[in-house]
Amino acid sequence: MRRIDNCPEELKTISVRAEGRHASHGQHRSLASEPRSGGLPLRPRPLCYDLCVPSHSQRGKFITFEGLDGCGKSTQLKKLAAVLSAEGVSVVVTREPGGTPTGEKIRQLLLDTNTSSLAPMAELALMFAARTQHIAEVIEPAIGQGQVVLCDRFTDSTEAYQGGGRKLGSEIVLALHRILCGNLQPDLTILMESDVAASVDRARRRNNAQAGKDNSATVNENRFEQESRAFFGRVRNAYLALAAREPQRVIVVDARGTPEETHKRIVDVVGRKLKLAKSA
Ligand code: TYD
Repeated sequence: MRRIDNCPEELKTISVRAEGRHASHGQHRSLASEPRSGGLPLRPRPLCYDLCVPSHSQRGKFITFEGLDGCGKSTQLKKLAAVLSAEGVSVVVTREPGGTPTGEKIRQLLLDTNTSSLAPMAELALMFAARTQHIAEVIEPAIGQGQVVLCDRFTDSTEAYQGGGRKLGSEIVLALHRILCGNLQPDLTILMESDVAASVDRARRRNNAQAGKDNSATVNENRFEQESRAFFGRVRNAYLALAAREPQRVIVVDARGTPEETHKRIVDVVGRKLKLAKSA
């Protein structure tokens, strides 16, 4: 297993929780704690989601979470990881930009408010540099081993933020995705729908509190949150447009209720779309 040295505390927590007693600090990989036989758990479980993934000869699943800053993606991703791993599913939790040691360095550069005057095309190229490494080092190997990869943001974020927010358009994003990422498509994308103002305010408060706590310029991840309301309006529109273009893959989930209500909706969507049979 590879170590992610710059893994943020939040993701460490997710991995540790998902890995149960096999936990190893700082790893993104999550192994199921229950023994398996032919892809099925050996003992009955109270609430069953029989995922057609676990055999190592089978390809896993790739699930991405998308939405505006502060919409609650990380919380929901953590909750879904906990449900799946409690069911004995082998889960890998990761994020973009980042997810690898190289990607996390690129993330710092991209999100730090001290990175000024970054040309939109340079920003686009850096997002794809991090992603290409992420696919090669983490995503493809995990899917190849039959694991379920839960990824906080992927190319839809680039289409929404750089394509929509920065006005670079979708075409260049999709072309780079084909060339650099082998056109890898998630099996399912959860697009969390939230209000622009409420989400961005929440993200700003969270990042300011985090920066204050760490008292360090390197953890100031506010560069995008400083963008205007109009920027986030374009991001939201771009998200809704790509969801309308790919309704089979991208499922819009109302994220304006309580975290628990949103979680129930997500578990339902994941069960339905990925043929997880709820047998309890
Ligand atoms: P993230 O850590 O998910 O922020 P949040 O938890 O607030 O949603 O993402 C960091 C920022 O990077 C976010 O503002 C969106 C931006 N981003 C892009 O602009 N393009 C991309 O391709 C990706 C992956 C992220």
